[in-house]
Formats: sequence, C-alpha cells, structure tokens
Amino acid sequence: RKPLTLHRLRELHATGEKLTMLTCYDAVFAQVLDNAGVEMLLIGDSLGMVLQGHDSTLPTTLEEMAYHTRCVARGNRSAWIVADLPFGSYHESLEQGVRSAVALMQAGAHMIKLEGGGWTSPLVRALVERGIPVCGHLGLTPQSVHALGGWRVQGRDHEAAATLKRHAQELAQAGAAMIVLELVPAALAREITAELPIPTIGIGAGAGCSGQVLVLHDMLDITPGRKPRFVRNFMEGAPSIEAAVRSYVSEVKAGRFPDDQLHSR
Ligand code: KIV
Ligand code: NA
Repeated sequence: RKPLTLHRLRELHATGEKLTMLTCYDAVFAQVLDNAGVEMLLIGDSLGMVLQGHDSTLPTTLEEMAYHTRCVARGNRSAWIVADLPFGSYHESLEQGVRSAVALMQAGAHMIKLEGGGWTSPLVRALVERGIPVCGHLGLTPQSVHALGGWRVQGRDHEAAATLKRHAQELAQAGAAMIVLELVPAALAREITAELPIPTIGIGAGAGCSGQVLVLHDMLDITPGRKPRFVRNFMEGAPSIEAAVRSYVSEVKAGRFPDDQLHSR
C-alpha cells in the first residue's frame, strides 16, 4: 500500500471509514502491523509499563521514547507513526515542549501525541505552527493517574463531561489533527465525535469514535493477568500474530469491535 499521510487519513475519516491504530514499540512488530494493514502505529509511553515493568507511565523518559521511535521507524514502511511525549517532557514551558517534539520527529515520528486539555492548547498551536502534526489525548490520561485517583472512567458527571467536551473543541481549534479518548462513557465519546471536525480514536470509549486503538500486548493476550474489560483477545482462533492483527483491522473497519454493550453508560 501507499504510505499513509495526514491528507489520506483525513480522506478516510471524511468517508466515514474507521481508522485503526495499535501501540508498537519495536521494528519487528512494526513490520507485522504494517503488513497487516494497521494505519497508525503508536509508540505509546505505555511501553514504560508493558516493556519496562513500571507500574505507571511516569518514569518513561524522552530518550527512551526516541529510541523506541527509531526502532519502529526502521521496521515500518507505510504506516503513520505517532509518538507520545512522555511525562515531564512538555510540562515546563512551550520551549521545552517544542524541543521534545522535535526530538521525536527526528527519531522518525510523523505526529506527536500529548495528554491533557486546557493548558496544552498553546503548545498544540505552537507545534502545529512549526509543522508538527499533533494528536491530543483526553479522558483517562495515565500521566495524571495520581491526580485522577486511579484507572477509572472519566467524564461521568455532567460537569466533567462538559469540561471534556470543551477541551476537545479547544484542541481542535488549536490545530490538533486527532484526539485519543481513553476510558470515557460511550455516549459521551459518541457526542464528542459527532461535534468535532477531526477524528477521535477510542480506547475503552465505545464504538462511536472515528477509530480505535489498543495496546498490542493486550490484544495479543501477551499481558498476563486480568485485562481491562474493553480489550478483546484477537489471538483467540487466530493462526498467527499477523492474522490476529488483520482480524483487529477488519473488526474495527466493520464496526464489530468494540461492542458498545461491554461499555459503561
Ligand atoms: O501509551 C499508550 O499506549 C497510549 C494509548 C493507550 C492510547 O497512550
Ligand atoms: Na500514552
């Protein structure tokens, strides 16, 4: 296939096609996911937990993110590469945020992702003005897990839902090209998606988003122990890892994953 571009992703979104994203931290999986037709590879700071064994994403550093981004970029041929700005790499100032984003773009990212709404809008605008595509991330933002009081659904009450909607609009106005919605009630995610000119990528946010993302090791059932309720084991019945990833792509495209009934009201 031809390399995915922001222009192409916007076209797909405009035609109502669901967008597919998975986390990817290294070259060999980048090849597998690219071959299986995943449109976007996310070097998520979840690698701090999945690969490094930390109990949150807070210890992950910019250098580590750049290293994994370089690995993914070498294995990838045609997917759109999104890299997370890790905790502390954009919290001090606009200058620091721009410098950190530049480091990830130079490592091979096509777009950077950052968490939070409100205070992040000026940085989003600064990055977009400087030619760096940006993906927002709202709802459960793991870099704020200690402030949020754990891994819980966000935007449940009326006030929190209104704030989430406002933050999404502000990010879009600041020039963000996409927004990840994590652990948000399905109905709220659906409303936000309908109101926004840009695609939303959901994780634990129901079927009403413009696309979906999962942590690769969760959907391949590599992660031991209990998985979040919204994860499906795509290895079940699949003859290979590439087949499991292909089935994720086709289930998302067909609107069969996720299933809204598995989600919170
Ligand atoms: O780091 C990550 O894996 C993420 C996704 C869960 C959206 O940010
Ligand atoms: Na992340």
